[in-house]
Amino acid sequence: MSTKTNAVAAGKESPPGAASEVIPGGVNSSLRNVYPFLAVARTEGAWIYDSAGKRYLDYQAAFGPPILGHCHPRVSRRIRETLETLDLPGIGITALEIELARKLVEHVPSLEKVLLCNSGSEATYHAIRLARAVTGRAKIIKFQGCYHGFHDAVARNVISPADRVGKLDPLSEGSLPEVLAHTIVCEFNSLDSVVAAMERNRGQIAAVILEPVPHNVGCLLPRPGFLEELRELARVNETILIFDEVITGFRHGLGGYQKVCGVTPDLTTLGKAMANGYPIAALGGRADLMDRFNTRSGGDVFFAGTYNGHPIACAAALATIEVLEDPAAYDHLFELGARARRGLADIMARNGVRATVAGYGSVFLTYFMDPPADNYTDLLRNDAGFFIEYRRRLVDRGIYKLPMNLKRNHVSLSHSLEDIDWTLEACEDTIKEMVKE
Ligand SMILES: Cc1ncc(COP(=O)(O)O)c(C=O)c1O
Repeated sequence: MSTKTNAVAAGKESPPGAASEVIPGGVNSSLRNVYPFLAVARTEGAWIYDSAGKRYLDYQAAFGPPILGHCHPRVSRRIRETLETLDLPGIGITALEIELARKLVEHVPSLEKVLLCNSGSEATYHAIRLARAVTGRAKIIKFQGCYHGFHDAVARNVISPADRVGKLDPLSEGSLPEVLAHTIVCEFNSLDSVVAAMERNRGQIAAVILEPVPHNVGCLLPRPGFLEELRELARVNETILIFDEVITGFRHGLGGYQKVCGVTPDLTTLGKAMANGYPIAALGGRADLMDRFNTRSGGDVFFAGTYNGHPIACAAALATIEVLEDPAAYDHLFELGARARRGLADIMARNGVRATVAGYGSVFLTYFMDPPADNYTDLLRNDAGFFIEYRRRLVDRGIYKLPMNLKRNHVSLSHSLEDIDWTLEACEDTIKEMVKE
C-alpha cells in the first residue's frame, strides 16, 4: 500500500458525460474531478449534498473560504439586501467598498491602504508587480511548497516530486521560462537559504513572498524567530516582504497570522475566508507603496478590474467579518480544531500508526510520517499511498477531505463538537481497518 510519492494524490475521476461534453474534464478548476466525482446539489452549514441526496461533512471547504459554514444566514441576508438596490456601478466608489476597506485596515496590522480585486491570484500578481516597480528589481523569492496562484511568476515548486525539489518544477506548460527563471525558490524555515539567495542575487531581489504558515502543503509552522529574521533580512536588503495571507487571513484571526506572530510585512494579500465563499480578494500594505497604483492620480503601477469591489462580494465580506468580530467565533473554531488534533494524535498513537498531527486554529491534518514537519523536504517522507486510501475510505463514510496529499482540513463555525467526535470515530474505524489489512 505504501507508494511514497508526493504527486497529486487522489486520482482523476470520470465526470458524468453531460458535464464533460461541454466542459473539459467536467469541472471548472483543477482538482475538482477527484474521487468521488460529486454533482453537487446543495450546500448548507458544515455539509455538502450531492444530487443523489448523500451528504458529506465538509472539511475541504472549497480550499478555505466558508469559515462560517455554507449559506450562512447573516451573509445570505446581507447579500439579498444589497442586490435589491445595487449591482455593479463600475464607476466611482460605493459605501460598501469604503466600509470594507476601513474594516480591513482596522484589523490587519500591515494595512495602511488597501485595494480590492477578485481572486488571490490577482492579489499576488499585483503585489509582485508593485514590488518590482518600487524597487526597480526583477527577481523574487518564494518557498518550496507555497502556492500563490496561477500566474507564471509564482506557478512553480509547490507540491513537487522529490526529484524536482531544488530544480525548476513549473505547474504548467506554456509558462514563460524567463518569468519562471526570475523566481528563486528557497526552503521554508531556513534563513540560510534566503541569505544565500540574497547574496547570489545582490541588489536584484524585488520581493520575498510567502505564506506565513504554508498551508498549501498542510501546515508548516514557522520556527520561532524565522519570520522576524526574514523581516529584518528584507529590510536590510531593501526588498519588499509580502505575506500571502489568502488562507491564513481571517482563518487564524481577524488580523491574519501577522497579528498572531507580531511580524508586519510591507504588503499583504487576502482572499478566501474574507467573504465566506464569495469572490473577493485584497492587496494592502504600506501607504507609500500602495499609492504607486494608478487608481491614484499620478500613480504608475496599473491596477484595474471590471468586477473589483463588487457590491455582492463586499456585502458578503462585511457580514463575514462582523460575525468573526464576536470573539466567541474564534473560540469555537479554535476549540474544535484543537479537539480534532488531540483526538487524531491519540488515535494514531493507540493504533501504532506512524503519524504527525499538525495544524493551527481551525486547521488540522495528519501526515503519515514521524516528525519533524518543518519544511517541504521533511514532507517527502509522508506516506502518500496510505493517505490516499485513508481519504478514500473517509469520503465513503461521508467525511469530505481535501483531495490531495499534504493538504489540510478546515473547521467552520457551523461544525459542532458532535461533528468532530463523529469524524474522530470514523477516523479511528478507518485506521483500525487499514492497520488490520
Ligand atoms: C496562499 C494562496 N495564495 C493565493 C492563492 C490563489 O487564490 P485564487 O485561487 O483565489 O486565485 C491561493 C489559492 O489556493 C492560496 O492558497
